[in-house]
Amino acid sequence: MHPDIVKISRIPQKSNIVFITRNPVKLPKGFFNSAELTYMSTLNKGSKQDFFTFNRLDHWLFVYFIKEEPDQYKLKESIRKSGEKSGLLLNESKVSKVIIYDTGDYTMETLAFAEGLALGQYWFLKYKKKEENNRVNEILVFSGKTGNPEIRILNILIDAVVRCRTLINEPNSFLTAPVFAREIEKMGIACSATVETFNKRKIESLKMGGLLAVNKGSKIPPTFTTIEWKPAQPVNKKPIVLVGKGVVFDSGGMNLKPGDSMSTMKDDMSGAAAVGAAVYAIACAKLPVHVIGLMPATDNRPGPEAVVPGDIIKMQNGSTVEILNTDAEGRLILADALIYASRYDPMLVIDLATLTGSALRAVGKYGIVAMQSNAEKELEELKSSGLETYERIVEFPIWDEYAEGLKSDLADIKNIGPAEAGAITAGKFLETFIDYPWIHLDIAGPAFLEKRDSYRGQGGTGAGVRLIFDFIRKKAGKPQ
Ligand code: BES
Ligand code: ZN
Ligand code: ZN
Repeated sequence: MHPDIVKISRIPQKSNIVFITRNPVKLPKGFFNSAELTYMSTLNKGSKQDFFTFNRLDHWLFVYFIKEEPDQYKLKESIRKSGEKSGLLLNESKVSKVIIYDTGDYTMETLAFAEGLALGQYWFLKYKKKEENNRVNEILVFSGKTGNPEIRILNILIDAVVRCRTLINEPNSFLTAPVFAREIEKMGIACSATVETFNKRKIESLKMGGLLAVNKGSKIPPTFTTIEWKPAQPVNKKPIVLVGKGVVFDSGGMNLKPGDSMSTMKDDMSGAAAVGAAVYAIACAKLPVHVIGLMPATDNRPGPEAVVPGDIIKMQNGSTVEILNTDAEGRLILADALIYASRYDPMLVIDLATLTGSALRAVGKYGIVAMQSNAEKELEELKSSGLETYERIVEFPIWDEYAEGLKSDLADIKNIGPAEAGAITAGKFLETFIDYPWIHLDIAGPAFLEKRDSYRGQGGTGAGVRLIFDFIRKKAGKPQ
C-alpha cells in the first residue's frame, strides 16, 4: 500500500540510486566520470537545475542537489517536494526499488526526501480494475548518521497518513458510520490501543442530542468511537483528548447543498480520520503520552424524519440549540464529543474538523484555521509543529463579540450566525461547550484536494496526522 523504508549498510551492484548532496565533490567515487561531474556542477550553479538522471542501461542513477534556503522549514518542505518529484520520475523509469544515498551527514534531508517520496507514491485505486502504473515500493536508506529509530518513526507516520487518506477517499457507499468505527477498531488492534464504539442505543442513553439530531435523516445508525493510548508511564497526568468530526457524508441535510458543492462531501470525516490515525501512530510509536481520540460519526441527509430548520434539540449537558440550518451539522456532533471529553479531566482538548467553507475561503488549501481558549502556550507549540510538518496554522480571534450572532430567541443558542466570520462563529459555538484548555482546528482547506499537490496527493491528504504526531512527540520530551 505504501513503500517500506529500510536502512541498509552496503550498496549492491546495479542498484537504482538517488544521491543526496550539496556538492558534486561529495559524490562517492566510481559512479560518475569527470565530465558528468563537471556537467552537474555547471548546471546546478548556472541554471540551478537540482535533479539529474543518468541511464546506466540496467539501472538508473539520480542526483539531487539540496538547495540553499536559510529557512529550515521551507528547506525541509522543498526537499519533501523533491522527494515526491523524483518518485514520479522513478515511476516513469519503471523503478520500484530505490536507494537514497546520503553523501554527507544529511539526516534531516534524507528523511524529508524519503517522506516526500513515500507519501507521493500513494494513489487510491481500490475501485480501479487494475493498476497499470509503476510504483516505488521499496525505499532503502544508505546513510551514516540516520538511525533506525528515526526510520521506524517515519514508517509509522507514513502508514498512519496513508490509512487516514484511504478512510477519507472511501466513498460513503462503503464508509458508513458503523464501517468507519470498524476500521478504527482494526487500527486499534494493530497498534494495541483500546477502541470502543458506542452504538445508537448507548448514544441515546448518553443523551447526545447533537449526534442524534444530525443522524435523524439517515437510515444508518450513528456511532461514537473512542481510541485510547495509555502507556505505562505517561509524561502527562491528565490525558490529551483529540476530537474529530466524523460526518461520513454531508449532503447538507434538509438545507441541501447546492450544485457541485456536495461532490467532495465524503471528506467530511477527515477530522475523525486524522484523530484515529494520529492516535494509531502515537500508539504504534509507543510514545509515553496518554492520549484519547473521540470520533462521533454519522451521515447528514434529508429524509422524512430529518431534523428541519426551526427544530430545537437538547444536548448532552442539557443546553438547547435552535437549528436554523441543517448544513451546520459538524458543530452539533462535535459539541456532544466536547461535552463528553470533560469526563476525562483533560489537560488539553484539540478538535479537528472540516467545519466551515469560510475557513477554506479564508486560507485555501495551505492553512489550518485555529482558535484557542486557555491554551495559548499549547497553540504556540502546535504552530511550531505546523511549520515543522508544513501543516501550517493560522490563528483566528475568538473575541466575545462573536457570541452575539449566536443568540437565539427560543433556545440557549442557535447553530448559525451572521454571514461574515463563519469559521469564527463556528468556533464560538463550540467554545460554549468546553470547560478545559482547548484548541479548535478547522481543516476544511487542506483536508481534501481535487487536484494533486505534490506529496499531499489528490483526494484526502491526511492533514492533521503529521501535525498532531509531531506535537505529541515533542510532549514526550525527546525525539523517540
Ligand atoms: N462540511 C461543511 C464545511 C465544508 C465546506 C468543508 C467545504 C469542506 C469544504 C459544513 O458542514 C458546512 O456545510 N458548513 C456550512 C455552515 C453554514 C451553513 C453556517 C458552511 O461553511 O457553509
Ligand atoms: Zn454541513
Ligand atoms: Zn459538514
